[in-house]
Amino acid sequence: MALVTVAELACAAAEGGYAVGAFNLNNMEILQAVIAAAEEERSPVILQASQGGLKYAGIDYIVAMARVAAEKASVPVALNLDHGTSFEQAMQCIRKGFSAVMIDGSRLPLEDNITLVKRVVDVAHAVGVSVEAELGKIGGTEDDIVVSEREAMMTEPEEAAEFIEAAQPDLLAVAIGTAHGVYKGKPKLDFERLMEIKARVDIPLVLHGASGVPDQAIRKACQIGISKINIDTELRVAFSGAVQRTLKASPDEIDPRKILGPAREAMKQVVREKMRLFGCSGKA
Ligand code: 13P
Repeated sequence: MALVTVAELACAAAEGGYAVGAFNLNNMEILQAVIAAAEEERSPVILQASQGGLKYAGIDYIVAMARVAAEKASVPVALNLDHGTSFEQAMQCIRKGFSAVMIDGSRLPLEDNITLVKRVVDVAHAVGVSVEAELGKIGGTEDDIVVSEREAMMTEPEEAAEFIEAAQPDLLAVAIGTAHGVYKGKPKLDFERLMEIKARVDIPLVLHGASGVPDQAIRKACQIGISKINIDTELRVAFSGAVQRTLKASPDEIDPRKILGPAREAMKQVVREKMRLFGCSGKA
């Protein structure tokens, strides 16, 4: 199958009351882990490349790997740019073959965020590529911020409605208390806020920073109306844990296949569990 858009998968998820998992792609083992999990779970799946992923693997390798995976797969696969930083980068990704882009203008004043997203939307929609935008700021767990600051960073429901109307993205990433990376304490999600956003916005909503969020909170977020969920850190944890176990058990091992193979298997198990949790298993 050719790559499909994120909007197509997320709209079906929104209608079906589940969320599609989006997993960060950095190398072949991650790709194979994610695709094997999707096949075994009969789940649609989103591959995405972050700034770090593009820098590490290179855009051509990312696109080539995702394309091969999608063509061979019997489930729908999308390729998304994660946290795109500029109009130019979004255009480059579209030209190279991404089926979706996220343009993250969340650090800009509202008007500038709207202008940037709308500019990307106009071009992307002309060539059948979907667009995710962000409103509010989803920080990192390493950012030391106090509660009042975190509140101020969250997505304002009224503003979200205005933003969608003006910029017309296909999906909206919301800031409701999650953060990227390993949480120091227990993340606290603002479900009231999510409900208010959902009531005012009729496009699929995206939850970033979902690694380490308790299963119950994820289920509730899906029930309220999250349709795409991003996972990166938990794949890293599974990968590095497996590599460490292998090398501890066999310190003289020199074959990359014997070191990376178990890591690939460990990541696949994480992806399968997430697919069941998000409700996208069996939806391909
Ligand atoms: P985690 O690394 O916390 O899973 O977040 C991933 C993400 O949101 C990518 O945009």
